[in-house]
Amino acid sequence: MKTALIAALLAGIALTPAPVTAQTVGSGVAATNAQNSAERPILFAASAPADAALAIVMTGAALPGDLPVDASTRTALEAAIAAEKFTGEAGDKLLLRGFGGRPSVLLIGTDAARPDWATAAGTAAQELSSTNAPVAVAGAPDSTAMAQMALGYTLGQYRFDRYKSGREDRPAAPVTIVGAGADAARAEWTGRQTHLAEAVRFTRDLQSEPASVIYPASFVERTRAAFARVPGVTIEVLDEAAMRRLNMGALVGVGQGSPRGSRLMLVTYRGAEGPPLALVGKGITFDSGGISLKPNAGMWAMKADMSGAAAVVATALSLAKSRAPVHVVAVAALAENMPGDNAQRPGDVVRTFGGQTIEIRSTDAEGRLVLADAIQYTIDRRQPFALVDIATLTGSVGAALGSEYAGMFARDDTTANRLAAAAETSGEALWRLPLHPTYAKAIKSDIADIKNSDASGAPGASAGAHFIAHFVPETLPWAHLDIAGVDWRESSAPLTPAGASGFGVRLLDSLARQWRPGE
Ligand code: BES
Ligand code: ZN
Ligand code: MN
Repeated sequence: MKTALIAALLAGIALTPAPVTAQTVGSGVAATNAQNSAERPILFAASAPADAALAIVMTGAALPGDLPVDASTRTALEAAIAAEKFTGEAGDKLLLRGFGGRPSVLLIGTDAARPDWATAAGTAAQELSSTNAPVAVAGAPDSTAMAQMALGYTLGQYRFDRYKSGREDRPAAPVTIVGAGADAARAEWTGRQTHLAEAVRFTRDLQSEPASVIYPASFVERTRAAFARVPGVTIEVLDEAAMRRLNMGALVGVGQGSPRGSRLMLVTYRGAEGPPLALVGKGITFDSGGISLKPNAGMWAMKADMSGAAAVVATALSLAKSRAPVHVVAVAALAENMPGDNAQRPGDVVRTFGGQTIEIRSTDAEGRLVLADAIQYTIDRRQPFALVDIATLTGSVGAALGSEYAGMFARDDTTANRLAAAAETSGEALWRLPLHPTYAKAIKSDIADIKNSDASGAPGASAGAHFIAHFVPETLPWAHLDIAGVDWRESSAPLTPAGASGFGVRLLDSLARQWRPGE
């Protein structure tokens, strides 16, 4: 028995798998087992329920022709529009309480030339969030616009309130998307956008969860649960012992100060033949900085340092559930960056899967370390036709671009343009930042092949991108997305309530659908 145990330990096999539903290290007392409060279910119909608060989306000061209001209400609305000088431009809104026999009527403007139905509906979700009445959203000209409204309303009504005690857990009144073509809209929604919305919700939940709940092993369990019974999907997970055998010294090194073991997870969705598109995400379930400890202010937000990993896994979820004809591998590089008596130190040298050595100058530049091993392994084992990595990599990108654009790096214009096109269609904005050979000098090491950080004053986001570029062959189309400025919002936007944004899911979903090998 004893020899069997020792043999099993030597082989790196855990005899009793640790329970991962509750924190395995710590009190073990779960703060909650509840869900977030109910969201409004989405309905599609040709008319609005009589008791619903009504949102009307307009592309100018004139009311849409086909509206669920009677003639006298229409006249009263036109008088209110004139009196308030409501022009119906993008971003305009006007709330009329107790109007036309309804709890409220909300007018929302969107651009006539480039109407954004999702954003308009997200605005409705937020403006009407405090009413218990049913809601109806009108003004969509066709079924596609209606499905976009359903997506926008769902993204806009997201909340993370599962840790609040004493909440009333009653079902929420529905929202009806009103228009001609309700059946076609419902089909579009259930076939596609509802899965995209679910994927964004999955990402936001993982980002919002405290690091006592989401650590590498529980991230994997949440992923497995989300993909249960989804066809065409395989999930491969490497634990620390497996990664050590593969010489993944960079990824394992980051997690070695934490008792919560690191993981590398590859979620493959095979909806087409040929090589995959690889999406690799940084998954630091908490970034304390390690021995290069961060200051306290804002450190709590480092529970969301796994946003990139959540976004790539969620993208695979959306693609798989909507049965998109694509082949993707979503890779989550999962570790907790903590100080501790076994934590790695500034000055340490580690070796990666591919054999390169890295001098650790700051244990707080850990995202690029976990990505180095994850990227090399993905390329070696899956031979993708292209690779996109996404990471909350540097505070520097937030200082440069703020909260509306993620930083995008690419070696070639073709790849950059492809990403820009996906940003355009998805509504998640990117701004290209430069790779320049001079910045690469910032990561030259005296004693190893490369170092992970420097004090030379090179732009931080670019230095990070160059570090990652070191592990990507020149011939492989590659883009790096630095989302450290956009993964968490201080204030609400129509599609993103304050807090976790789920940034990247809509973008990568759109990218994967249009990027095929050889095209
Ligand atoms: N996770 C942080 C980056 C970050 C900062 C994300 C703010 C979200 C909000 C990352 O691991 C980090 O610590 N980066 C350092 C890099 C430096 C040590 C080279 C930074 O940006 O200061
Ligand atoms: Zn980090
Ligand atoms: Mn860090």
